[in-house]
Amino acid sequence: MRARARLAGTVAEVSDALPAAPPSPAPVLLDACRGRPTSTVPVWFMRQAGRSLPEYRELRARYGFSEIVRQPELAAEVTLQPVRRLGVDAAILFSDIVTPLEAVLSGIAISPDRGPVVDQPFRSAADLDRLRPLEPATDLPYVAETIRLVRRELPAGVALIGFAGAPFTLASYLVEGGKSNDYRRTKALMYGEPALWARLVERLADITLAALDAQVAAGAQAVQLFDSWAGALSEADYRRYAQPASARVLHGLAGHGVPRIHFAVGAGHLLEAVGEAGADVVGVDWRTPLDAARRRLGALAVQGNLDPTALFAPPEALDAKVREVLAANGGRPGHVFNLGWGVLPDTDPEALRRVVELVHAEGAGAGAGRSSAGPAAGPG
Ligand code: CP3
Repeated sequence: MRARARLAGTVAEVSDALPAAPPSPAPVLLDACRGRPTSTVPVWFMRQAGRSLPEYRELRARYGFSEIVRQPELAAEVTLQPVRRLGVDAAILFSDIVTPLEAVLSGIAISPDRGPVVDQPFRSAADLDRLRPLEPATDLPYVAETIRLVRRELPAGVALIGFAGAPFTLASYLVEGGKSNDYRRTKALMYGEPALWARLVERLADITLAALDAQVAAGAQAVQLFDSWAGALSEADYRRYAQPASARVLHGLAGHGVPRIHFAVGAGHLLEAVGEAGADVVGVDWRTPLDAARRRLGALAVQGNLDPTALFAPPEALDAKVREVLAANGGRPGHVFNLGWGVLPDTDPEALRRVVELVHAEGAGAGAGRSSAGPAAGPG
């Protein structure tokens, strides 16, 4: 099987041996993450699996969310659904940011509407003892198995992205007990007990790093660190209380050579700081145009940033918004097309498919940076 033969050579092996003309092209997404010129602009969507897809809802009517995550055949099926239906350039592991925490801590549940809910929120030093180190081989065997199953099925040109939650965002769930509007308890702990806070996010960083290490070892070809709620922090607070723990995760992954994507919502004011934590690619939400983001991020690649609500507009209006995003990037290499945040639950999958087609067509027309002198092109 061609797909399987191609998967045999890792990107690192291929590029070490033959830097000029790799015989087995890497998925276009990986080239874009590395800032290399590509034949077209790769596209995938945060939260592309799940509630917007009827085939997911059908499965979900029969199984709980965590049940799906813990049964590799089901999790692999849900991971692959958007690849089949939408023609995206990447699959993202079906799991949740609190999945590693659920494995080491009791009393966490994922509510379909509210998200993670923690029975006994973290408030004191004693709570730290409840957070033991993660041992992925025994704590999360189903995640590695899901990744192996997905890689076996995935076409060679489509990359599998692993992911985890960043320490600040995970800590906010543990301290608040769930989603918060103002993060008052999280910030109170951060400001009031900085030493305890530092130990908490360091421990979470080690859990996150262990989870991501295991995902890469099992076959994830890129990883995304979601720091969804970091936008609630000022830049000074982000640099002091959140960035060091995220840097610990991202630097810890450096040896693997897989692209590291780092994303936060409503974090235009943090863009440089998010990039400096050690990412190869910075996810940009829709509030910051990509041309401005690129000026501020220098050599880093960017991911984004169509407003997820644009998918609810009439087709021609949606097309115009897609073209706006492509134009803001201006055909430069190092652009992964995505939404500026996750797919909203009621999104019409047909609109998502339309975006993929348009990005592939227009991205090829724009050259995706083919005119730029970069390292040897991958797929060409
Ligand atoms: O397609 C994919 O992107 C892969 C799966 C994925 C899920 N969660 C599945 C899920 C990913 C990447 C996540 C990440 C995640 N989870 C984040 C970061 C991304 C973001 O949106 O900022 C956050 C903050 C969470 C926490 C979380 N989990 C929330 C807030 C919710 C509830 C509402 C919602 O947004 O879906 C969940 C539950 C969850 N995670 C569902 C899914 C498909 C819905 C649960 C269900 O089907 O019952």
